[in-house]
Amino acid sequence: MDLEAQIDGIFPSYIFNFDLSDKVDWKKLIPILDEEVDKRHQLEEQQNSEKFKDPIPSQMAQTVIVRAVQTLDRELHRRQEFAELTAWIKICLEYYRKRFEMQCEKLEPTLMWGNKSIKHAQHHAHFHTMSLISGVFHLHDGIGTCFMDPVEQKLRGLQVFDKTTNDTWSPRAYPGQLVLFPAYMKHYTEPHQGDDPRWSIAFNSFPSGKCNWDEHDKIIAVDLTVN
Ligand SMILES: [Fe+2]
Repeated sequence: MDLEAQIDGIFPSYIFNFDLSDKVDWKKLIPILDEEVDKRHQLEEQQNSEKFKDPIPSQMAQTVIVRAVQTLDRELHRRQEFAELTAWIKICLEYYRKRFEMQCEKLEPTLMWGNKSIKHAQHHAHFHTMSLISGVFHLHDGIGTCFMDPVEQKLRGLQVFDKTTNDTWSPRAYPGQLVLFPAYMKHYTEPHQGDDPRWSIAFNSFPSGKCNWDEHDKIIAVDLTVN
């Protein structure tokens, strides 16, 4: 058939990648993160020993999915050891803010935590609540944070599967790579295959200062103090 359609891909999602590998001394961060993950393990062991008096039933043990573990401290951006990384995160958030001419005075990191994945561990698909722009700083090589198609309507109602169903994007990761993405984007990680743990640092941000000052939209303007 001699027929060709013009196809327009519209409303793209934007993921920003920054190479900070020669700007952030990322290697020194891993032992600090490890210590924080140990603190979480100790706390959970204590809580579990109080909760589960009996051994876990064998069927449960067989169906366990290995999850990535977060550091106990989720405000790493306030710590001196992470000051260099936090400063670069702020620079990258400012780049994002300016690139899209966002009507807010600043994007301020609000939470920052480390993730450890032992062999077979993974992050389930999730998005970040109470955040505008989120990000991840990779400390490993291999498959990076995987993103899912945000048009969830595709997965509802009448559906005939086609080559765009369950579209995901799985970019390569490398140590020192900073990825920024809108917090509504669902993402996950594949089960980790390596013997050494896989590490990353994630963060959320919030608009700060005057927001939405457009003359015609004063009704939705707000002045936020985020600290
Ligand atoms: Fe996440």
